[in-house]
Amino acid sequence: MNVLVTGGAGFIGSHLCDRLLARGAQVWCVDNMHLGRRRNIAHLESRPDFHFFELDVLQREALDSLFAKAGFDAVFHMAANSDIAAGVADSRLDLTLNHLTTLTVLEAMRAHGVKRLFFASTSAVFGENDALLGEDAGPLQPISFYGASKLAAEAYVSVFAHTFGVSAVVLRFPNVIGERATHGVIYDFLAKLRKDASRLQVLGDGNQAKPYLYVGDLIDAMLAAWDKSKDPLSVYHAAGIETTTVREIAEIVVAAAGRPDTCIAYTGGDRGWAGDVPRFRYDISRLQSLGWQPRHHSTDAVRFAVERILANGF
Ligand SMILES: NC(=O)c1ccc[n+]([C@@H]2O[C@H](COP(=O)([O-])OP(=O)(O)OC[C@H]3O[C@@H](n4cnc5c(N)ncnc54)[C@H](O)[C@@H]3O)[C@@H](O)[C@H]2O)c1
Repeated sequence: MNVLVTGGAGFIGSHLCDRLLARGAQVWCVDNMHLGRRRNIAHLESRPDFHFFELDVLQREALDSLFAKAGFDAVFHMAANSDIAAGVADSRLDLTLNHLTTLTVLEAMRAHGVKRLFFASTSAVFGENDALLGEDAGPLQPISFYGASKLAAEAYVSVFAHTFGVSAVVLRFPNVIGERATHGVIYDFLAKLRKDASRLQVLGDGNQAKPYLYVGDLIDAMLAAWDKSKDPLSVYHAAGIETTTVREIAEIVVAAAGRPDTCIAYTGGDRGWAGDVPRFRYDISRLQSLGWQPRHHSTDAVRFAVERILANGF
């Protein structure tokens, strides 16, 4: 299989490239290095079955040339702005990097007759909702431009699937953690401790609680959904078991970083920043019925991810 991975030098995209190569695919990885890092894919660059291009997927001509050259069988569209807070500061960032990149990829697929798409979506499409969220739950009322742009992108994926014969898998990721992270709560805490190990400032009251998923478990979920879905549009939720609070994460990071004397200070309020959804829970039974199961409880996933990030360097 000849596969395009957009955003492949990012956190999740680079793990996906590893796993697709292990399955025998020819992997074509593009990234504009907005948040991506060369070190995430450095171990792959000498492989004959791995092809990296520093390219912005919004550059349609360059993207078309690549489609024509490679003859893709499938596209895994991971490229996006993954920094929700940055999107709050600039209301066009997510529109451009999340929505327009998706439309551009869909148009290129249509032009070149590529029929299979994986789209990386997010729990942020729901906004604040206390229910146990299944794939058909609603209302879909995002509270961040990030969530809004992904919801709009999902809608465009649906149109291309039902109108132009694309078979699409949409997986709404939870908070994903692990080595090679380019952002996120563990990364932020470690970066703060590197600057000043005596004090860790935590945004919010620390009671935000989410079902964290280790990146290896997420890739398993992606591939299970990919292998077993044939409909024009298949939507799934993946998450770790139970939830972990930000307070627990702060304590785990401080202990693992070897500074148990660090003072953890909370800024207060129920969320880290405008647009942050403080709590959510996912019903993952649809993916479980395909045989997928997260290997880690959410809090075990946090411990494991912190270990892996520290071992890998960040
Ligand atoms: N990490 C999470 O917890 C999480 C949760 C929900 C959804 N997601 C989604 O999963 C996908 C991967 O996220 P991630 O955590 O690996 O983030 P990431 O920022 O590490 O990876 C995204 C990559 O896309 C690249 N990119 C951005 N705009 C581009 C463009 N125009 N052209 C080419 N490349 C571009 C970035 O440089 C980056 O390497 C994203 O779509 C993200 O929205 C992630």
